[in-house]
Amino acid sequence: MKDIKKIAVLTSGGDAPGMNAAIRAVVRTGINEGYQMYGSMRGYQGLIDGEVIPLGSRSVSNIIQRGGTILKSARCKAFYEKEGRQKAFEKMSSMGIDALVVIGGDGTFTGAKIFGKEFGVPIIGLPGTIDNDLFGTDFTIGYDTAVNTVMEAVDKLRDTASSHDRLFIIEVMGRDAGFIALRSGIATGAEMILIPESPTYLDEMIFTLEKDWKKNKTSGIIIVAEGDDSGGALEVQKEINDKFPNYETRVTILGHIQRGGSPTAMDRVLASRLGNAAIMTLKEGASGVMVGLVDNEIELTSFEKSIKHHQNINLELLDIAKVLSI
Ligand code: F6P
Repeated sequence: MKDIKKIAVLTSGGDAPGMNAAIRAVVRTGINEGYQMYGSMRGYQGLIDGEVIPLGSRSVSNIIQRGGTILKSARCKAFYEKEGRQKAFEKMSSMGIDALVVIGGDGTFTGAKIFGKEFGVPIIGLPGTIDNDLFGTDFTIGYDTAVNTVMEAVDKLRDTASSHDRLFIIEVMGRDAGFIALRSGIATGAEMILIPESPTYLDEMIFTLEKDWKKNKTSGIIIVAEGDDSGGALEVQKEINDKFPNYETRVTILGHIQRGGSPTAMDRVLASRLGNAAIMTLKEGASGVMVGLVDNEIELTSFEKSIKHHQNINLELLDIAKVLSI
């Protein structure tokens, strides 16, 4: 493999709190190891357009606490095509960029896997998504902050639910995964948690509500992952209003509020450790792998595996939630 001198970092896909902390760690570790560091703007699009900027230690000052990403993010359609990737390779080669650190989720790693194989570019991935749906890391960067954001919002909604004797159905993000729903549901004492990893039987849900009503539960919280097979919070509300109208229902869809905000200490530390490890891993000659944290140790997982094998959700937590909401 050719000697690496210049490394570009980029953020791609949905933004996640802690991405800036990761950029900072990548850039500063890179400089410390003697590399010249760059940032590609708007993910892979910056490579195609040649929008790649030099990053020094001071370029990443004062960002560890900021949400979003200073490098901006995009889901780059052109990179899906061979022509777009060819352009990206030519542009980065003309600028002398030898290697990449990509921060994102499964879409980002799918692009990285193809690009790395096609052009022999050394690429290391960092898991940056609020969804926590990558195999090879216990937690992704941004997940803990998103869960805490949901928890604060649900606590507030609980006040109104309880004051007005209402049942709130709250939809949280997670296109294909229920991690945010499950963890925030436990943390807020939700009466029900509906996630795609466990089939939702609407009859069972109505039966539980009838039981709750008999037990003098006059208000409640149902957390629904957006990817749940029920179809989401509005569908759940419809079903309840039709089949058991005793409860006055309200729907809140939390949406992109979950993607923003200052990262928690856990996300900042995770991003700092993984960002540092990304450079050290590149230096050791690895490529085509995601750097993750498993049982508090740095672990490398091929892009292929990190995307394909969804990490296991702990369904025991669903049972615990049921017991604790009687
Ligand atoms: O993958 C992160 C995520 O926030 C998902 O939970 C959600 O379904 C999706 O991104 C929303 O994407 P967009 O930014 O395109 O609205």
